[in-house]
Amino acid sequence: MCGIIGIVGKSAVSDRLVEGLKRMEYRGYDSAGICTVFDDQLVRRRAEGKLANLVKVLKTDDAAGNIGIAHTRWATHGAPTTSNAHPHATGEVALVHNGIIENFKQLRDELTARGRTFESETDTEVVAHLVSEQVEAGHSPADAVKAVLPRLRGAFALAIAFRQFPDFLIGARLGSPLVVGYGDGETYLGSDALALAPLTQKIAYLEEGDWVIITRDGAQIFDKDNVPVTREITTSGVSAAQIEKGNYRHYMQKEIFEQPTVVAQTLSSYIRPLEQTVALPQMDFDLASVKRITIVACGTSFYAGMVAKYWFETFARVPVDIDVASEFRYSDPVLEEGGLALFISQSGETADTLAALRHCKENGQTIAVVVNVPTSSMAREADLLLPTHAGPEIGVASTKAFTCQLAVLAALAAHLALVKGKLSAEEEREIVRHLIEAPAALNAALAHDDEIAAMAHLIAPARDVLYLGRGPDYPLAMEGALKLKEISYIHAEGYASGEMKHGPIALIDEAVPVIVLAPSGPLFEKTVSNMQEVRARGGKVVLISDAEGIAEAGDGCLATIEMPTVHPLIAPLVYAVPVQLLAYHVAVAKGTDVDQPRNLAKSVTVE
Ligand code: F6R
Repeated sequence: MCGIIGIVGKSAVSDRLVEGLKRMEYRGYDSAGICTVFDDQLVRRRAEGKLANLVKVLKTDDAAGNIGIAHTRWATHGAPTTSNAHPHATGEVALVHNGIIENFKQLRDELTARGRTFESETDTEVVAHLVSEQVEAGHSPADAVKAVLPRLRGAFALAIAFRQFPDFLIGARLGSPLVVGYGDGETYLGSDALALAPLTQKIAYLEEGDWVIITRDGAQIFDKDNVPVTREITTSGVSAAQIEKGNYRHYMQKEIFEQPTVVAQTLSSYIRPLEQTVALPQMDFDLASVKRITIVACGTSFYAGMVAKYWFETFARVPVDIDVASEFRYSDPVLEEGGLALFISQSGETADTLAALRHCKENGQTIAVVVNVPTSSMAREADLLLPTHAGPEIGVASTKAFTCQLAVLAALAAHLALVKGKLSAEEEREIVRHLIEAPAALNAALAHDDEIAAMAHLIAPARDVLYLGRGPDYPLAMEGALKLKEISYIHAEGYASGEMKHGPIALIDEAVPVIVLAPSGPLFEKTVSNMQEVRARGGKVVLISDAEGIAEAGDGCLATIEMPTVHPLIAPLVYAVPVQLLAYHVAVAKGTDVDQPRNLAKSVTVE
């Protein structure tokens, strides 16, 4: 999604703005631009495509000035062309925007009728014109912004520069995050703390409806009713080192390999290793009285939720409804008074999930959130915050956030089972012992990296790939297919193994590799039968199993990947590793842009 940075600085800002945009590349974008205020002029430079194109433009045509705004755009209204790239400007005002102005058509018609002309197809340009009209009529920039914000429907984070005012910028947020960074004689605006990481660690998070004037001396923040407010200045834990690739070729690769560490880090907040018990944060509702859980999430986080459904139902015997967030509100869900709604999100800003959360809140649900960004909107709106401690996830394809989500969800399921009286203290200790084994098992799974890299050429030429799994490995099959689709652009589907014979089996031929996820255990025999159905039709199988499973069913497979033998509880965490590595190495073999796959955004802040 779009990234915003603004600097009111003591020295030239152009290079630092571009550096800030580089740190936000991970969010996904298809054009970029900057605008400085210099010599009573708005100096605007924009380019479609990657940041390198903008840098090229700036090499021949620099943007001087100590104050400026910059933006990476992920196209919504209008193609990713230079004229649609932000900043959008009039003679007086330039601004960058993240989000969607839903009533832009009506505003555009109104502005056109007043004789204003537009140079882009974007929704954003109407905001530049609305603010500009006010300034041209003699209103101060603050009054202009105050007059315009209530006219905007939708979601926005804005950073606005004014030609005649080279000493301040104005920012505003509603629905899309925006932070203020406090430096030494400089002040910044950014989409997140990551964007500002090397500039400052002192961050204030704007709240819904806030707007702010930033100067070299600091910031004046106002709430939605234009009342001056103070927002706590926190020290962001994000260091520049955390957002570097280190010795890895890609962020995704680094993040896959971080999993043993970050899962251990996450688990250490949810278990007491000496007592071997689960320890959840304090909650002001009675977990034991929960009769039904509604889980809502998107993409990879949704698959973590599907695994959790198995755990909540098998351990705690609590029924679970689960839906993707983009469908949830429109299916008119039945939400019983006093129910528990659980939202899972890496970013905590995914617009569909956030809208579903608010819907549940309005309908009397207690809100629990498993989230990786503890300062995110979802984290702030939760009754029970269950943070994952995966650290910043930069690769667009989610990896370490997923396994950390599973770690938290397993602990939650065990605790729920305990308070529901479905688990004895000894059984709880056993579960905790297995969770403690997870980081070492993840390490053992990662040891197969070279072998998986070597087999990537078997999958890379395929047009279609099927992933099969049963029970908690079924969501893993879908997650494997999602990873492959996202970064290698190979069409892939994840199916419940037993469902294959009801249709997808028609696709099987020797050109369609089938990846079977089958740890040995109660579901193994059934999954292997489905695998034999594939092989009987000439299908080429890659079997991912443990030593016992491979000894029993590995003969005749195109390839096998041996996972450590683990308890079924932690199998979903461990089996995530080979599907992530397989997608990664296939993408590398195909030469695609692993960290910034085409069309994708890291945090999807539009519905
Ligand atoms: C897949 C991926 C996406 C996200 C989805 C939800 O690799 O990254 O499918 O999982 O957009 O994002 P969060 O978890 O931030 O709500």
